[in-house]
Amino acid sequence: MVSEISYGNWLTHGSQVEEDAAKQCVQAALDEGITTFDTADVYAGTKAEEVLGRALHGVRRESLEIFTKVFWPTGSGQNDRGLSRKHITEAINGSLRRLQTDYVDLYQAHRFDYETPLEETLKTFDDLVRQGKVLYIGVSEWTADQIAQALKIADEMGFDRIVSNQPQYNMLWRVIETEIVPLSEKEGVGQIVWSPIAQGVLTGKYVPGQQPPEGSRATDKSGSAMISRFMRDDVLTRVQELKPVASDLGLSMAQLATAWVLQNPNVSSAIVGASRPDQVRDNVKAAGVKLEAGVLQRIDEVLGDVVERDASKTVSPRTRP
Ligand SMILES: NC(=O)c1ccc[n+]([C@@H]2O[C@H](COP(=O)([O-])OP(=O)(O)OC[C@H]3O[C@@H](n4cnc5c(N)ncnc54)[C@H](OP(=O)(O)O)[C@@H]3O)[C@@H](O)[C@H]2O)c1
Repeated sequence: MVSEISYGNWLTHGSQVEEDAAKQCVQAALDEGITTFDTADVYAGTKAEEVLGRALHGVRRESLEIFTKVFWPTGSGQNDRGLSRKHITEAINGSLRRLQTDYVDLYQAHRFDYETPLEETLKTFDDLVRQGKVLYIGVSEWTADQIAQALKIADEMGFDRIVSNQPQYNMLWRVIETEIVPLSEKEGVGQIVWSPIAQGVLTGKYVPGQQPPEGSRATDKSGSAMISRFMRDDVLTRVQELKPVASDLGLSMAQLATAWVLQNPNVSSAIVGASRPDQVRDNVKAAGVKLEAGVLQRIDEVLGDVVERDASKTVSPRTRP
C-alpha cells in the first residue's frame, strides 16, 4: 500500500531549496498523511537522498514507504551508471547509507539499460530482495515492450516481478495511455506517476508573454531545461483556460491537475514535488477528489492538440549516459 499522493524531491532537496525548507516540506507531507517518499541516487548528485534521510530520521520506519532509483551516473567512472550487477550492488549500498535505512520499499530502474543483459539486471534485483535490502522492484520510463520482456524473464526464471512503473503523466503528457497502461492493467503493474502538475506549469502561474515568477522552477538553473518543453505560448494559453474549470469545482489548479492523474485506475500514486510546505498542503487535497466524465471532457476540449500522446516518446538512452 502507498499513499495516493507521494512526495518527491527531484530538483529541490540538495539543490533549489535550502535544507530547512526541504525539512519543512517533508514535515508538511507527513502532517498531511503522505507516507510515500520518492528520491533517486542521481538527484543533486546524491545529496537529495542525504537530505531526505535526515528529514525522515526519527520517523517510525514501519510508517513510511521509501522509494529510490538506480541508473543515471553517480560518479565519473564507467561503472558508476547503468544496470549492471556491479553498479546496482554498489548503488544500493550508497543509497541505504545516505537514506539512513536498512532497506528501501521500492527500488526502481531509472531507465532501461541497452548495454546490460536484462537477465543480469533482474537477477541482481532479485538478489537484493533475498538480501532484504529491497522489498519490491519497479522501473521508470520503460516501454511496454521492455516491461513485457522483463515480466516474461521473471516468470521463466522465478525472479520477483516488477510491481510498478514510474512514468511522466499529466494532462499535457499522456504517452502511457495507449500501450503501457493496457499492458500494466493486464499484468498487475501500477503506475506511480511523476510531474503530475507538469513541474508547476499546470498551476497556471506561468503566463504567456510574461517573465516566470521569481523563485519558480522555470527560473532555476537546473530546473529550467526540463520544464522548457511546456513553456510554449500555445501550451501556456490553453492552461490559463483551465482556470474556470478548477474554480467551478472549488479546486486550485494544482489540485485539479493532481486529481486528474488519479482518475486513471492504473495510477497507484501521484508523486508531487514542492519547493514550499504550503504547496504540499495545497496539492494533497487532490486525494479522493472524483472528476465527473463531463469535467474530463471539458479539460480535453480546452487543451485540444497541445496534449502529447505519442507512445514513442517513452525513451531511454541507447548507450549508458
Ligand atoms: N522517474 C523519473 O525519471 C522522474 C523524473 C522527474 C520527476 N520524478 C519524480 O517525481 C517527483 C515530482 O516531480 P515534479 O517535481 O516535476 O512534480 P510536479 O508536482 O509536477 O512539480 C512540482 C513543482 O511545481 C511547483 N508547484 C507544486 N505545487 C505547486 C502549487 N501548489 N502552487 C504553485 N507551484 C507549485 C513547485 O516548483 P516551484 O515552486 O519551483 O515553481 C514544485 O517543485 C520528483 O520529485 C521525483 O520524485 C521522477
